[in-house]
Order: sequence, then C-alpha cells, then structure tokens
Amino acid sequence: MINYKNLQKLLFLLDAETSHDLAHSALRGVQRTPWLLETVANRFAVRDARLSQKIWDNVFPNPVGLAAGFDKNASIIKAMTALGFGFIEVGSVTPKPQAGNPKPRLFRYPEQQSIQNAMGFNNQGMETALCNIIKARPSNIPIGVNLGKNKATSQEMALNDYEQLVKVFRDVGDYLVFNLSSPNTPGLRDLQNSVFIRELFAMAKALTSKPLLLKISPDMDNSDAVDLCNLAVECGAAGIIATNTSIDYSLLSGAQTTGGLSGRVLTEKSFRLFATLGLELFGRCVLISVGGIDSGAEAYRRLRAGATFVQVYSGLIFQGPSLVRRINEELLALLTRDGFSHVSAAIGVDV
Ligand code: FNR
Repeated sequence: MINYKNLQKLLFLLDAETSHDLAHSALRGVQRTPWLLETVANRFAVRDARLSQKIWDNVFPNPVGLAAGFDKNASIIKAMTALGFGFIEVGSVTPKPQAGNPKPRLFRYPEQQSIQNAMGFNNQGMETALCNIIKARPSNIPIGVNLGKNKATSQEMALNDYEQLVKVFRDVGDYLVFNLSSPNTPGLRDLQNSVFIRELFAMAKALTSKPLLLKISPDMDNSDAVDLCNLAVECGAAGIIATNTSIDYSLLSGAQTTGGLSGRVLTEKSFRLFATLGLELFGRCVLISVGGIDSGAEAYRRLRAGATFVQVYSGLIFQGPSLVRRINEELLALLTRDGFSHVSAAIGVDV
C-alpha cells in the first residue's frame, strides 16, 4: 500500500480541488475492482461489536461517519464503506444540477490542518444522486442524504425544493438531512428561522416516516441554536447535526473573505455549541457532532458530550484514509480504559 504521507506531498503540489478530483477518480477506480475493494476493507475497516449500534432500525457498525460534501453525487459509497466508515452522508444534493461558485473555491491551510471552501453546492442534481444510491444498494452501512436548495431558487420557493428532494429520496435514504447552514448559498442560513422550520418539518413529516435531521451552523448564537433545535425536535426532527463550516474568519489569520472554515480551527467552536446542545437535547433526539474531529480522543469527547455519532471531512484530507481506522481503534482503547463495555455506555456521560 502507498504511504499516504508521500502521496500527500504530491497531492498538495496541486491545487486543492484538482487533488480532490484525483482522489475521487482513484476511489472510483477502487470501487470498480472487487479484489481491491476487499483489500482496502481488510486494511481499514474495524469490525468490533462494541462499536456497533442499532439506531432507527439501521445497524451502524461504528460511530464514525463521512460528513456531507465529500461524496456530493453519491458516486463513491462503496469505496468509502471500504475505508471503514460506519455510515455515509451523501450530498448536499439540490433538485437541479448546478456548477457551484467560480474557482478557485477550495483552500488548504496545512499548518492549521484546516480547509476553507466556497463550493456552493456543486452537484449533478437529484436524479443522478438517486441512480447512484440505488446502484450502491444493498449497502453494508446506512446512507444518509443531505438536502440543499438550488442557488437560483428564491427564498419563497425554497420549501418546494426541499419537498421535491424529500419525495425523491424518502425511499432510498436511511435518513434525510435538511441543510440550512451552508454559508455558500446566499440566503440559505436565513432559513434557520422558526417559521421555516415549522413549515419544513410539517411538509416532510406528511411525506415520510424516515428520520429527518437538521444540520446547523456554528455561527449561531448558542441560545438561538438551542431554541431552533428544540423547535425542530418538537416539530418531529429525529436528530441534529452540529456543525457545518464557520464564517468566523477570526479563527484563521490569512483566511479568504468568502467560504466556510473547517478542520482544526473549528474544533473548539464546534465543540462548544455541540456541548450546549447536548445539555438541552441529549436523550430527546439523536445528536451527531461534526467539526474539527481528527482523533479518537476528540471523537470520544463528543460522544461523552452526547453524540451518538461523529462525522469527519477535513481530517481525512490531512491524515489520509487510515483516519477512520485510527479513530475507531483509539475509541476502543478509551472505552476499555474507562471501563465501558460498549460505546453506548459512554454516550452522554458528561452531560
Ligand atoms: C463541506 N461541508 C458540507 N456540509 C453540508 O452539509 N453540505 C455540503 O455540501 C458540504 N460541502 C462541503 C465541502 C467541503 C469542501 C468541506 C470542507 C465541507 C461541511 C462538512 O460536512 C462539515 O460539516 C464541516 O466541514 C466540518 O467538519 P470537518 O471538515 O471539520 O471535519
């Protein structure tokens, strides 16, 4: 197997989006080659009953998921499964295909192990994602679908976009996520308000009994976030995902003036909001923590603060494909150290 540190040196010579596209091509290649897929799975997947949880009638073999944005078109589900993820969230998918914002729109900050992206929901649209998810079934891991509105859709018609998406994905997604928190679609974050949340969940609950989740921004005032998430749960949300990327540019000196920050610069901000939500919502819905998680210790801190699952994205860019295995192995060691016989026993102990 190729050493990721050497591969990374080559990838980091290229601009960030070109490296991302190359990595995708390689992963699609792995996916087309059954023996390679199996070799990758044997190397990276941690199979241990202590990490497996049954939630919403689905078995999640471990609590580490792939965050939205990495597999926007649901085209590398099998390859990401082989890398050892316990679940995968595809998207954000919009009803119509769209190109996203002008390039360059993806920036790496290796010293800070952080990323800034202004992608703007570049994706091939819901029909393509639907076909790809169907092709990836049956899947060994749950597949969530993250839903976003098209940039060209007015605020008044936003509900209609989410309605089309729920209708298309309700039969193929194991859970659906309303993404109202990307900073790269003008006006999207303004939909994080009580009127829209009520309309959104009323519409979706009438269409499906699948778990519906809300993904929120780390830039909300803590008490506003608590109120909004409380309302979402009252309206039927099965879970909250906290957090998306941040436009608090004080987190990173030299940051671009557009796009959301992720990775290590986001760790504390994301954790603080998550921990506040944990105090309020733990036990009332499933909480998923994402933002700057790149070690077993950080994942464990989130679980103890109330997360049933964690997700990673930026850490994968800097630490490479063995990140998921390492987090799961470290989690097992921490569970043993603290005398927990199963991951579920550690979830929420710090709440
Ligand atoms: C993202 N993220 C994201 N989130 C989302 O809900 N829909 C999306 O389409 C995207 N797209 C996207 C692209 C890129 C390049 C990045 C880096 C991130 C946000 C992602 O899912 C996650 O919430 C944040 O990146 C924080 O986690 P990490 O990266 O710090 O582990």
